[in-house]
Amino acid sequence: MLYDNLDTTGGRLIFAGADTVALAEKYGTPLYLMDEEKIRANCRAYRTALDACVCPGSSAIYASKACSFAGIYKIIAEEGLGADVVSAGEIYTAKKAGFPMERAYFQGNNKTDADIRFAIDAGVGYFVCDNFEEIDALDRIAEEAGIKQKILIRVTPGIDPHTYAAVATGKVDSKFGIAVETGQALEAARLAVSKKNLVFEGIHCHVGSMVFDSDVFIRAADVMLGLMAEIKNKLGHELKILDLGGGYGVGYYDGQGKIDIPANIRAVAEHVGEAAKRLGIETPSLRLEPGRSIVADAGITLYTVGSVKKITGYKNYVSIDGGMTDNPRYALYQSKYTVVTANKTDAKDTITADLVGRCCESGDIVQPEVSFPADIARGDTVAVLTTGAYNYSMASNYNRIPRPPIVMISNGADRLAVKRESLDDLILNDII
Ligand code: LLP
Repeated sequence: MLYDNLDTTGGRLIFAGADTVALAEKYGTPLYLMDEEKIRANCRAYRTALDACVCPGSSAIYASKACSFAGIYKIIAEEGLGADVVSAGEIYTAKKAGFPMERAYFQGNNKTDADIRFAIDAGVGYFVCDNFEEIDALDRIAEEAGIKQKILIRVTPGIDPHTYAAVATGKVDSKFGIAVETGQALEAARLAVSKKNLVFEGIHCHVGSMVFDSDVFIRAADVMLGLMAEIKNKLGHELKILDLGGGYGVGYYDGQGKIDIPANIRAVAEHVGEAAKRLGIETPSLRLEPGRSIVADAGITLYTVGSVKKITGYKNYVSIDGGMTDNPRYALYQSKYTVVTANKTDAKDTITADLVGRCCESGDIVQPEVSFPADIARGDTVAVLTTGAYNYSMASNYNRIPRPPIVMISNGADRLAVKRESLDDLILNDII
C-alpha cells in the first residue's frame, strides 16, 4: 500500500494497527484518523538529519497551518521541534497546549497591531517579518512592552518551484516577503538593523509546497546566502539563521515519487556550509519548516457511503457523508488522492465513479474517477488516504455541516483528540 502504516489483509483497511471499519462504527463518520507514531517518526527524520548536519544549531519548525489542534503541539514539543504559527488562533492553541513559545515563529504577511501585541504577550520566540510596515510596528510595540524582539526577515529569492500556482510563494512578485532582486530586501535589512528594539538574527524564505527536488532548496539557499553576505559587507551585520521554509512533497498516490528527506537535508546543509565559506560569512544555522511532510501520511479520513448513483450511459457517483467541508483540496487544487473501500478491500470486480460530498454544490468532488468495488452500496466505509495535512485545518462549516472529530491512534489504541462539532457549536455565536 501507499504507506507502511496501511494494510489490507483480511479484506479490511487497517491503519496504524487499528481496524478502520470498527473505528468508523465506534466514532461515527466522517472521521479523521491520525497515527501518532507516524507523526513522531516524521519529526525524528527531520530532527536527526538537522542535528547531524554541518550547519550547527539547526532545527525543524513544524508549520502548524498543516494541521493545528492542541494535541499536535504537545507531540511537536516532545519531539523537539519548533512551531510555525500564523495567527492569534494558532498562537493561542499552541500556548494552551503548553508549547514552549520561545520555539514559536510567527509568520504571515499582515500581522495587525493586535496580533503583534498578542504574540509578544504570549512570548513568541521569533517574528518572521514580512514587510517594512511590520518592522516599524513591531519595533514600536516591542518598545511599549519593554522587550527586545528577535526577528527574521522574509524575503523572496525569485525561485519558482514549478509545483502549483496557489503554493508558489518564493517568486519575486509574490504577496509574501520582500524581493531580493529589486534591492528591497537589503533595504528592509537596513531598517531592521536600525531598530533598537529588534534583534535581527536571520532571513527566511519559503519557495513553495510539494517540492520533490532538493535543487530548489539549493538554488534558494544560494540567493539567500548572497543576501547574507551583502548584509554583512554593506551593513556590517552578521546573521546567524538561514530559514529555508517548508515544502517537501509527499506521495498522494502510487508512483508519484518519493523524496529522501534526510539525504536532501544533508545535501542542502553541505552546500550551505561550502557556499558560506566561499562568501566569507559564518556557516548559518538552518531552519526548515515542514508542514505537509510531518502530518500528511499520518492521516486518513473515513466516510460512509449514502448513495450510489449510476446514470446509465453517462457516469457514476458515490456520495459520502462528508466532502469539500472536511477536504476542500480537490475543489481548490484538483489534488489527487488514493481512495480505498475500507470494508471491501478484496473486491475483484470494480466500477468507476466520482467520489462526491454532500454539499449543495456540483464542485463538491473529493476525487473523480475512483475505482470502487462493483457492489459498493449505502453503508460501506470509504477511506481517503494521506489526509493528515491541510484537511482538518482547511475544513469549513459550509452548509452548516459540523467538522469531524480527530481520533489519534497510538500503538494500536485510539483516543479522541478533537471532539466532533455539535449542532450547538454551530450556533454558539448566533444571537437568537
Ligand atoms: N513555511 C511557510 C512560511 C509556509 O507558508 C508554508 C506553507 C510552510 C512552511 C509549510 O509548507 P509544507 O511543508 O506544508 O509544504 N493549502 C495548501 C498548502 C498551502 C501551504 C502554505 N504554506 C494545500 O493544501 O496544498
